Amino acid sequence: MASRLVQTPEIQKLLDRVSGLTVGGGDPRTKQIVRRIVSDLYTTIDEFDITPDEFWGTLGFLQQGAMEFGLIAPGLGFDHFLDIRMDEADKAAGIEGGTPRTIEGPLYVPGAPLAKGFARLDDGTDKGEVLVMHGRVTDQDGQPVAGAIVDVWHANTLGNYSYFDKSQTDYNNRRRIETDAEGKYKFHSIVPSGYAVPPQGTTERLLGSVGRHGNRPAHIHFFVSAPGYRHLTTQINIAGDPFLYDDFAQATREGLIPDVVRHEDAEAIRAEGLNTPFAEIDFGFTLVKARSEAEGELHARPRVPPIA
Ligand SMILES: [Fe+2]
Repeated sequence: MASRLVQTPEIQKLLDRVSGLTVGGGDPRTKQIVRRIVSDLYTTIDEFDITPDEFWGTLGFLQQGAMEFGLIAPGLGFDHFLDIRMDEADKAAGIEGGTPRTIEGPLYVPGAPLAKGFARLDDGTDKGEVLVMHGRVTDQDGQPVAGAIVDVWHANTLGNYSYFDKSQTDYNNRRRIETDAEGKYKFHSIVPSGYAVPPQGTTERLLGSVGRHGNRPAHIHFFVSAPGYRHLTTQINIAGDPFLYDDFAQATREGLIPDVVRHEDAEAIRAEGLNTPFAEIDFGFTLVKARSEAEGELHARPRVPPIA
């Protein structure tokens, strides 16, 4: 049922006025977008007979939730929708293959320490299961990409990220690793845990109001970049997580769920220079050649500054 009221000349004129179409100045594209969004919201209000109490209550909810927009967006699938749109644009442009992209999330911190070939990500205080992850960065012909930067970040075993969790050391579970001549990267860390949106926060309240939960399965974030290649934003999931296919952020994608191999034999442990059983993930990243300099760059979004 379309809104009859919104289609009336009076409301159409109102929409033109509030979106600046009756005045000069401003940005034409912004005027069109504002008009569409406001018109769609007027229609929603009219079709669902939204009461003033509901409207002002929602406005207050959004004001309180401003700090959580970075979580509300993936919770409502916007991050995943943008990924799907980029996939579609690639397909239309004849670009195929490469490691699948998936959402960045709001918890990246730039400027993590840079290591060559290998890094230990954790500071040793979290007694979680030891993780050894390694692989190669290659191009679409399988040739190694030397000097690629694997920028990796993940949560601790409580599901918290350093910087945002002030109890952790700076850049804990965050590093940039430059691939060697064979395109190889490797790190030691701990297997991260999944996490949930903040309890009683606006995201949880919003999801709860539609009967949803705010849990993410355990995952590890990556930016992978190299001169001449498209910037890759992706994650891998830890196989076996109960929320693997029930991610509130909708970020799980086939091709990003590598096997986790558990090692308990003394020789394998010694070979890694460890003294405890560990989990191993072997995962390679395939980069796609960039057709423009812009494709090699990380897209803009609000991010925290590097730690001084
Ligand atoms: Fe995350």
